[in-house]
Amino acid sequence: MDEVSISEDTVKTIVEKYHGEKSALISILQDVQKEYAFLPKDALSLLGEEMEIPLSRIYEVSTFYNSFSLVPRGRHLIAACAGTACHVKGGPKLRSRLEAELDIECGETTEDRMFTLEEVRCLGCCSLAPVVKVDGDIHAYLEEDKIPGILDNHRKEWRQSGEN
Ligand code: FES
Repeated sequence: MDEVSISEDTVKTIVEKYHGEKSALISILQDVQKEYAFLPKDALSLLGEEMEIPLSRIYEVSTFYNSFSLVPRGRHLIAACAGTACHVKGGPKLRSRLEAELDIECGETTEDRMFTLEEVRCLGCCSLAPVVKVDGDIHAYLEEDKIPGILDNHRKEWRQSGEN
């Protein structure tokens, strides 16, 4: 997938919000990731210049935390549970339906960078199986036919936030 182009002003505004404090690097990286849904290479280089932090240090922090991604991800992260409880209650069907609806396979991101689909071992709420997590929301006892509606709601929300 291609590198996205970043806005220097956006990155500088984020740095200014934290007064360029080196100790705020993690918060700054979180804000950059919120903006681009991952940490673009150019944004990290600019952060290094603006904050006078070696790029190697920025990469060290970015790769230490699982929540940061150096590769493009979708605005919404979908986790399909592949744990035992979900598996026996129809998890594989949910995963296949998600892959079909999004036209991607697990581990991939949609062309419009709206969704990334991942498979996880267990979401820790087995009594609610089968479950799928979209961003922070757990969809419990999920039925396959509810999936298109859930995806549409996220698409609509995104369109509305772009209109405001
Ligand atoms: S197996 Fe799916 S939440 Fe545990």
